[in-house]
Amino acid sequence: MKDGLDCAQCRFQNEADAAFCTRCGARLESPCPNCQAPNAPDARFCKRCGQALGGPPASSQGASAGFASPQAYTPRHLAEKILTSKSALEGERKQVTVLFADVSGFTSLSERLDPEDVHGLMTQAFELMLAEVHRYEGTVNQFLGDGIMALFGAPIAHEDHAQRAVHAALGIRKALEGHREEIQRIRGISFRVRQGLNTGLVVVGSIGSDLRMDYTAVGDTTNVAARLQQTTEPGRIVISEATYRLAAGYFYTRLLGELSLKGKAEPVKAWEVISAREARTRLEVEAERGLSPFVGRERELQLLLECFEKVKAGHGQVVFLVGEPGIGKSRLLYELRRRLGEEATWVEGRCMSLGRDMGFHPLIDLLKRNFRIEESDPEATIAKKVDRGVLLLGEDLRPTLPYLRYLLSVDPGDRAVAAMDPRARRGEIFDAVRKLTIRGSQVRPHVVVLEDVHWMDKATEEYLRFFADSVPTSRLLLILTYRTGYAHPLGERTYHTRIALDVLPTDASVEMVRGALGTQSLPEDLRALILRKAEGHPFFIEEVVKSLREVGAIRQQGDGYVLAKRLEEVVVPDTIQDVIMARIDRLEEAPKRTLQLASVIGREFTRRLLDRIAEIRERTEEC
Ligand SMILES: Nc1ncnc2c1ncn2[C@@H]1O[C@H](COP(=O)(O)OP(=O)(O)OP(=O)(O)O)[C@@H](O)[C@H]1O
Ligand SMILES: [Mg+2]
Repeated sequence: MKDGLDCAQCRFQNEADAAFCTRCGARLESPCPNCQAPNAPDARFCKRCGQALGGPPASSQGASAGFASPQAYTPRHLAEKILTSKSALEGERKQVTVLFADVSGFTSLSERLDPEDVHGLMTQAFELMLAEVHRYEGTVNQFLGDGIMALFGAPIAHEDHAQRAVHAALGIRKALEGHREEIQRIRGISFRVRQGLNTGLVVVGSIGSDLRMDYTAVGDTTNVAARLQQTTEPGRIVISEATYRLAAGYFYTRLLGELSLKGKAEPVKAWEVISAREARTRLEVEAERGLSPFVGRERELQLLLECFEKVKAGHGQVVFLVGEPGIGKSRLLYELRRRLGEEATWVEGRCMSLGRDMGFHPLIDLLKRNFRIEESDPEATIAKKVDRGVLLLGEDLRPTLPYLRYLLSVDPGDRAVAAMDPRARRGEIFDAVRKLTIRGSQVRPHVVVLEDVHWMDKATEEYLRFFADSVPTSRLLLILTYRTGYAHPLGERTYHTRIALDVLPTDASVEMVRGALGTQSLPEDLRALILRKAEGHPFFIEEVVKSLREVGAIRQQGDGYVLAKRLEEVVVPDTIQDVIMARIDRLEEAPKRTLQLASVIGREFTRRLLDRIAEIRERTEEC
């Protein structure tokens, strides 16, 4: 028989079934052999890390060992990324999104079921959750009894950490929903996951060789996420205002109002996430709120229009539009599209940082937009839209249908397609998409845009090389946008044009600020402040103006604005931090890229970027 626990208070050795010390009445607790968390004597699994307690059977021990250290459960490609950026990260302040997921119902299950069974079910649930977190390149930092805590934005930096975290939360809900249905069917047991998310700063501590990352939250970043998770109902995902501000435009949400959270004096605004919206870019999200009036870029627009003139005459062109994040690549194309209007058919596909591992992602995006396929369309509707769109261009295109449908993940209507050798099928898909585009361009000149090709997946890259050869002899203007530092795979041709976007000249910046503030009278100190902070970078101009407004640093006076705070009190907005931090991480982890970037964007800018970071550090150090 197992010995009882020694009382931590009076050292009395109690009988095996005692929950309280029979001499002094103190509650008896035994430390978990894995994480040392104190657990009740009758606990079968550690409340913090899920470690089986009290000598469970070998099989379940194996499962919990799988979660004992991050090294055991972090996929290799992520582990490598973390370890290469390790030294650059330690001691950094990072903006992150924290996700707490809790599988409510598991604890009550453990009373009704065999412990080994519960452990098996929990292991499966944990594995499903981990897979979703890793899909979006987050890391699981802690296992907490019935749930997990995951971080996005550190140790792997991502400027879209909030979006990634919300996508992961939706993914977790979906995966566990499937798991739930299955065990409900087999065992009649039910459980649901509730999740809470918040965004804020953390200071990254040391990262061990087992990938365990220590960090300190600045303020109550983690606490708010945990509390939001606790307040919500099972099956729901709740986000704080900070997360909402970064991710709102990409998801359908519902305002829950102000919630009182334990440990917070002030109520906290919270939203429920309903579902993801169709693929959207930052510019589309911004356009909904109203874009700043377009300024400058006359020369670049002119160049694009000249290329289009050649295209109209049958001499297809390829344009590379290059520049750092937020410099105005997408906006320039938005303006070009408006100028061209009905003169051209515009087809556009986007690569996403989330989509690098998804084959053909931008091509699928392009086709979906072209056929006006909505996220919510059922399979039959998608098939119908594809058929109609294609056959409108000619009955002879009918043989392409099964391949286009296959690419869009709907029934190809031809069994042979699914059974085909993948290489051969890929060739047919390439052919189908190209035929469709070229046929379209015979009806009306086509502008084919692939945005952000620095995130392009291998399959799309292969297609692009194949497709590019048809450009010079068709009425096609192929435009590829990418961020500085990427080398495109299409080589050099006479029909290629490269347009590199630089920062805006001062007069254009001033015009943009005036437009953004809706005023013609701009006091000199305010003008100087914005110009100094944003340095002609359109995205920064917008963000600086936005944050000056938000923090009440500027005040309307008559038909103009004046500074209402001291200059030193003005803090650089979060979004800028994210973009820059993500870039700096990349710079530091790959010296080759640093050189590449420096040679393209010029040392002067890199230096300024670093200065700006230094400024952010000083500021955050003060809080
Ligand atoms: N010439 C301009 N005039 C006015 N606003 C601009 C101009 N260029 C860019 N902007 C604004 O700046 C913001 C960033 O621009 P945009 O999204 O086009 O950048 P980008 O180069 O495509 O960045 P990313 O690489 O992140 O996609 C947008 O809100 C856009 O409306
Ligand atoms: Mg863009």
